[in-house]
Amino acid sequence: MDFSDKKEEIRRAADIVQVIGQYVQLKKQGQNYIGLCPFHSEKTPSFTVSQEKQIYHCFGCGRGGDIFNFWMEYHNLTFPQALKDLARQYNVSLPEYNNSPGNRKKSDLIEFLFEINELAGRYFHDVLIKRPVGKPGRDYFSERKLSQDTISKFRLGYAVNSWDGLVTFLERKDIPLDKAAKAGLIVSNTTNGYYDRFRGRIIFPIFNLNHQIIGFGGRVLDNSLPKYLNSPDTPLYHKGRYLYGLDSAYKDVRTKGFSIIVEGYMDLLALRQHGVTNVVATLGTALTSDQVRRLKSYAKKVIVLFDSDDAGKQAALKSFPLFLNEDLSAKVLVLPGGEDPDSFINKYGITKFDELLGNSIPIFDFYLDQALANEEPGVDGRIRLIKDVLPIFMELEDRTAKFLYIHLFSEKTGIDEGEIWEELRLDERKLKKGSGLNEFKDRLVSVLDTKKYGSDLQFLKLLAHYPEKIDNFRDQQWELIVSDKNIVKIIKVLMEKFPFKGSLYEVEEFLDDPITREQLRVALISNPYDKDIVDQAVGEFLNKISKMRISQSISRARAEGNIEAINHLIKEKQGLDLRNKRN
Ligand code: GTP
Ligand code: MN
Repeated sequence: MDFSDKKEEIRRAADIVQVIGQYVQLKKQGQNYIGLCPFHSEKTPSFTVSQEKQIYHCFGCGRGGDIFNFWMEYHNLTFPQALKDLARQYNVSLPEYNNSPGNRKKSDLIEFLFEINELAGRYFHDVLIKRPVGKPGRDYFSERKLSQDTISKFRLGYAVNSWDGLVTFLERKDIPLDKAAKAGLIVSNTTNGYYDRFRGRIIFPIFNLNHQIIGFGGRVLDNSLPKYLNSPDTPLYHKGRYLYGLDSAYKDVRTKGFSIIVEGYMDLLALRQHGVTNVVATLGTALTSDQVRRLKSYAKKVIVLFDSDDAGKQAALKSFPLFLNEDLSAKVLVLPGGEDPDSFINKYGITKFDELLGNSIPIFDFYLDQALANEEPGVDGRIRLIKDVLPIFMELEDRTAKFLYIHLFSEKTGIDEGEIWEELRLDERKLKKGSGLNEFKDRLVSVLDTKKYGSDLQFLKLLAHYPEKIDNFRDQQWELIVSDKNIVKIIKVLMEKFPFKGSLYEVEEFLDDPITREQLRVALISNPYDKDIVDQAVGEFLNKISKMRISQSISRARAEGNIEAINHLIKEKQGLDLRNKRN
């Protein structure tokens, strides 16, 4: 089945700036919008969105495409799923999808796993709120002061303490158990078939930004171990990639201008219940750069709220380089006297909590205070400290930030600023000998490439932005003026597909390798010729083609020793040059 009509319909209904703008803060700049790329780490925006062309391209990491590419990459979905999501969002109806068998199998599996999770989520929730066997769960939540409203908003549940509660339910719904095992909900057992993964636990469904359930967390009701159990990695859930509660927080994170990160499910729920809307939780792993990058697209300020125990402090320390590298301004709040966010807010309320937030300290100070407290006193300790902290400074690309942090570091430690700089330079020199140099080379090569292919790209830009001019070149030997084979490929496809059925970006599908696709995007998203000079540009390129053709003929004539032909050709060439000057 060909979906290009549906794709086109969705493209027309949706606006890429709005679609991407939900997740990335975009600013208008010239014709385009720019923002920080959600797919790689960067501090100055090179992620570019063109409203006119309805495409995006990151000049930093080279990723790009149309709304469908964005949706797939950002939400980690297959094309059919992205098509379905966007169709639903923009009220476009879709016929039954029928793709190649391999592709269909993969997208079907993912779809199916979402369905199974949804069913299981409803089952756990039902047990919790309605069934007699759910009483332990209800008692537990009421003891932990969670309201009905919170329970239903977060679709919390309870898994009965039996080996086959969910297994039996799924069997009754005719769900193949091997698929439920792929969703991580049940576990296969060589002798007795399958058994429930979550038993005798309260259940926290974990949602993606589309509010679909990608996995579950479960907590025991007593002191048995493990206290928390999460879904294993599945096609839908990958440890460390998601933040609990982000789907219901990201809008408020953006309006408030900062996010709050806590460690636990219960911490998040307690804070939400007290009206703290911009909070997310890390789901039992140390904060990852994936998670930090996600948050960064909504607000560049973060408050990290970790437990006052040693593990909490360690976690805050570990997150320090992450924030520095993503250029996020992070503050840390360590709660007083063994409280965690959940117990604190339930004991003291929102007013005290807000007061406390005001006392959070920059993560750098926190880091140094901790490091200083841990170091043995004296020269040895200081040296160790420099060795620990320098690698972090080295990572800072921003020179102003480097100056600032080194100044602060020197102030706190009493180590002379000059010494620190000296150490840093030594280390940097070491680095240059290695990987640094290669990077530089790569950059140089790409600059030279741009020079060499400059006019190729100009020609491609002309045709891509003003496709109505394509016919001027159809019968010409335009290949003579394009030296980049990839650009030749792209232009051939443009010529073949013009006039386009839908948006020009459709032709991307006929380009089979990622480099040519990227070149087309670059041509489309960079500034076009001014309308006023388009015809002049067409004339110049035609002229260039003619001259190239004549030059070729001249070499041929020279090889044959045909003086008469050479004279004739040279005259023709002069005529062209003259015409050029008059223009
Ligand atoms: P409560 O005791 O219910 O208040 O939980 P908590 O959120 O205060 O727990 P804790 O501070 O011990 O842990 C914080 C978070 O780390 C939890 O919400 C879980 O996401 C995760 N976590 C804690 N214990 C475990 C465990 O045994 N296994 C896994 N996978 N994650 C855990
Ligand atoms: Mn707790």
